Amino acid sequence: MEITNVSEYEAIAKEKLPKMVYDYYASGAEDQWTLKENRNAFSRILFRPRVLVDVSNIDVTTSVLGFKISMPIMIAPTAMLKMAHPEGECATARAASAAGTIMTLSSWGTSSVEEVAATGPGIRFFQLYVFKDRNVVTQLVRRAERSGFKAIALTVDTPRLGRRESDIKNRFVLPPHLTLKNFEGLDLGQMERTADSGLASYVASQVDRSLNWKDVKWLQTITQLPILVKGVLTAEDAKIAIQAGAAGIIVSNHGARQLDYVPATITALEEVVQAVRGQIPVFVDGGVRRGTDVFKALALGATGVFIGRPVVFSLAADGEAGVRKVLQMLRDEFELTMVLSGCRTLKEITRHHIKTEWDPPRLAPSQGKDMEHLFHERHCMFVRVRPKAASN
Ligand SMILES: Cc1cc2nc3c(=O)[nH]c(=O)nc-3n(C[C@H](O)[C@H](O)[C@H](O)COP(=O)(O)O)c2cc1C
Repeated sequence: MEITNVSEYEAIAKEKLPKMVYDYYASGAEDQWTLKENRNAFSRILFRPRVLVDVSNIDVTTSVLGFKISMPIMIAPTAMLKMAHPEGECATARAASAAGTIMTLSSWGTSSVEEVAATGPGIRFFQLYVFKDRNVVTQLVRRAERSGFKAIALTVDTPRLGRRESDIKNRFVLPPHLTLKNFEGLDLGQMERTADSGLASYVASQVDRSLNWKDVKWLQTITQLPILVKGVLTAEDAKIAIQAGAAGIIVSNHGARQLDYVPATITALEEVVQAVRGQIPVFVDGGVRRGTDVFKALALGATGVFIGRPVVFSLAADGEAGVRKVLQMLRDEFELTMVLSGCRTLKEITRHHIKTEWDPPRLAPSQGKDMEHLFHERHCMFVRVRPKAASN
């Protein structure tokens, strides 16, 4: 069957992968309300396209932390990609590089920073989980730096792992032929099988729950790399992130895998953008499956988006070629959305090109007058009628 959109890879992946692995990739936390909402919220945002703009030339290139990339679509960190495909993180890195965009490698990759770096040139970020043992963290960050990674995406929404019930039912554990490669030499590469999710137990024993804003400053003492704070959902935290020296913010709910009933990220994005006031770039991930989603995110003020599951599922279905195809399809759809909305560059995408459910009703000037008139008349009628009704 010919694949014509990103979402179609999920069914193929489901068929190909062992149940434990597919469930780990696909699921969200608890009731999975946020998981559905991450998608549904996009569908409630509509377009206000402009017509008769000369769209014979479209430019989707952009710049992220000073690095020129081919499009505002990047790869989010997802753990343990060799469960999806034997070439895992390395195939993903090659696909990102071929597409001219950024890949973020997870701390919990089944390939190391060095192995990913050895795939060839490419702009890459390293996602960091802060372990209790800060020597482990320092060593890892230094290795990422030495391997040419360009930024640290510090994940701040995971002091404990969210409750993913299928992982508990499946007794999820990393298959024995694989390791968390970045931690192999540190004796932390294995995951014990436990009576619930092996990953949840691993997090509980290794990840530092005391992590706080002071540590963002501490991180800047051990690395020169810019730090993106990944997992911010509020204006309050966005402001603190700037004070703490963040170079950027990723509005993320971890693909709905941590706290259930947080809003869809596309709904939380604008409050963060407004709080940040253009001081640092704001990115978003969660539920991006269409070029139209990318456009909506940019219209709400994002500098770019990251995608998680589409990469995992296409990798499982077709390895590097699958990931390349996902990136190409999203790029094509995004370009088409720009053409049909009358935008030639990313700068031309504005808040006026979309309509959200939290926007006040938008009235054309003349229509506005009519409506005002109508409202006034109704209101007066109500005022006029009432005494009459009362006297009856
Ligand atoms: C299977 C899987 C593994 C993930 N692993 C990590 C991780 O190791 N570190 C991290 O910061 N986020 C991780 N995430 C979250 C992603 O970085 C990203 O926030 C999320 O997948 C975006 O939503 P989407 O999958 O709907 O595109 C993971 C997500 C999935 C689905």
